Amino acid sequence: MSYGSLRDVLECIRKIPVVIQIMDDWPGYDLNLFTYPQHYYGDLDYVLIPHGIVVDRIERLAKDIMKDIGYCDIMVLCVLKGGYKFCADLVEHLKNISRNSDRFVSMKVDFIRLKSYRNVLIVEDVVGTGRTVKALLGSVEKYKPNTLKVASLLVKRTSRSDGFKPDYAGFEIPNLFVVGYALDYNEYFRDLNHICVINEHGKEKYRV
Ligand code: IMP
Ligand code: MG
Repeated sequence: MSYGSLRDVLECIRKIPVVIQIMDDWPGYDLNLFTYPQHYYGDLDYVLIPHGIVVDRIERLAKDIMKDIGYCDIMVLCVLKGGYKFCADLVEHLKNISRNSDRFVSMKVDFIRLKSYRNVLIVEDVVGTGRTVKALLGSVEKYKPNTLKVASLLVKRTSRSDGFKPDYAGFEIPNLFVVGYALDYNEYFRDLNHICVINEHGKEKYRV
């Protein structure tokens, strides 16, 4: 391979996106374009990521994860409660891939209660500062899994980040407080499908 074409290949690899970036000036979608539970009328600003896009993106993350793990047995570790929707949809897609491949892939799911430790995939809803997931990694590493990876549906762009980057990320989002798709504000909004931005009225209404 000549230097010219090697450079082209490297350039090409560099351009493969690994996350969907939602920019700070993204206005989102008007809530009236979608359906959402009536009890949240007036409590939200806009839809940041519609449910369908979330699920489509997770399908691709499942494909990337399966390829990287090499179709080996996998232990999926779900971080409750916010991670349960992401985890459920991710596992569903991983199962589909496994079912349609020639190789048998066994999959176990646990909820922060480790017993067997081979290829562990920690499934998180959102990485903010990164402190939560780093603490978790510390406790899981003690069990010496073969491989230990982190998949987070969302990663926030925040100056408070300690630099932690998950191995798999669905969306990089502005530094906003988001709810829906199992992400909550004081336990509310987990029953909302879309990932939305809460407004001041919503914060006041569900303040504890
Ligand atoms: P970190 O330790 O700052 O990375 O925060 C991560 C944890 O805080 C997540 O596991 C969530 O439970 C919670 N969290 C952070 N940002 C949000 C948000 O925008 N909506 C809901 N929960 C959040
Ligand atoms: Mg969480």
